[in-house]
Amino acid sequence: MSEKTSNTARRDPAAASTRTVGRGRALPPEPPPRRRAWSGGGVQVVFGDSLEQYARWPTPDVIVSDGAYGVLGFDGDTSSHAGLPDWYAPHVEAWSRRATPATTLWFWNSEIGWAAAHPILERAGWRYVNANVWSKGKGHIAGNINTRTIRRFPVVSELCVHYVMQARVDDLPLKVWLRREWRRAGLPLKRANEACGVKDAAVRKYLDQSHLWYWPPVAMFRKLADFANAHGRPDGRPYFSADGARPMTDAEWAATRAKFRCPHGVTNVWDRPALRGKQRLTTDAGKAIHLNQKPLDLMTRVIEAASDPGDVIWEPFGGLFTACLAAMQLGRKAYGAELDASYYRHGVERLRAASTRRRKTTP
Ligand SMILES: C[S@@+](CC[C@H](N)C(=O)[O-])C[C@H]1O[C@@H](n2cnc3c(N)ncnc32)[C@H](O)[C@@H]1O
Repeated sequence: MSEKTSNTARRDPAAASTRTVGRGRALPPEPPPRRRAWSGGGVQVVFGDSLEQYARWPTPDVIVSDGAYGVLGFDGDTSSHAGLPDWYAPHVEAWSRRATPATTLWFWNSEIGWAAAHPILERAGWRYVNANVWSKGKGHIAGNINTRTIRRFPVVSELCVHYVMQARVDDLPLKVWLRREWRRAGLPLKRANEACGVKDAAVRKYLDQSHLWYWPPVAMFRKLADFANAHGRPDGRPYFSADGARPMTDAEWAATRAKFRCPHGVTNVWDRPALRGKQRLTTDAGKAIHLNQKPLDLMTRVIEAASDPGDVIWEPFGGLFTACLAAMQLGRKAYGAELDASYYRHGVERLRAASTRRRKTTP
């Protein structure tokens, strides 16, 4: 037991990391694979601990985290949400070190698992955007749940929480820095409207300090920066500069924000039944290989919303590598890791089959 685990265990014995001892496993554990890495179709995955891979992977545009839930879901998962902050802490710290303000994090978990992990994510610089609810519908409950015994509403949901890395310049959050630069130039706030050629939107949106703040689009940032450098106090120039030598370029400003686009009609509630039939990878005897396999279409949705072809996707807790598979199909580059030899083997078989299919169908 590591020192971290034993501290957790002292606080809450039920939270100690422990083996599932086969609970829910369809396959017996197997020895480590001879080949510990596989690549194909723009995807690279390894058998091993993602903590040892982060420094080797290229800068992520998107991180898809589907790790511990505090339900003994896999060997190494904790047995209660109380152990999740310690479980995630080293990963979150590494993600923050490698992420840029253009990185999106999708954090899958149960509602209480997310609540437990949220404070460490926020402290590490991840800015909460919103919580998306995967609603599996009534079909997910067997129909014979005795609510008098469980004494709660039956749960049919999981969360996929959207975070972005908080951009900071001069160690200030972006919105604070923007207003600070404008003030530093000695300009009255209302002249930001003149700079942007709008009636009052610039002050209300781009220099606002509340939750109503908007990130200035590149063209508007350019107008603010050019105006401040032309009309601001000469002794403080350059204004809106990251390096103190020249104002930020359009490309530098664009990189202070993560990508996002929402397909028409999609909201933060995703009605989608749990995996059924052929969607699930099963043994020859028809048993689910991995209890936590995620729907490919939902992984596709989150990756597509936050990246472009060629962008880098990380899947640190691979399982059957559903995010890597979605990334492959979308033409992104993906990097994944999995600690369990039998999940790794099946995940690689799945990726290999998909990349062969792609090679055959791509002219
Ligand atoms: C919730 S499952 C992921 C399921 C996956 N999203 C899918 O669709 O198949 C989490 C997986 O992460 C693996 N895991 C846990 N800690 C890990 C680590 N430090 N490095 C690599 N894999 C890890 C577990 O063995 C488990 O298979």
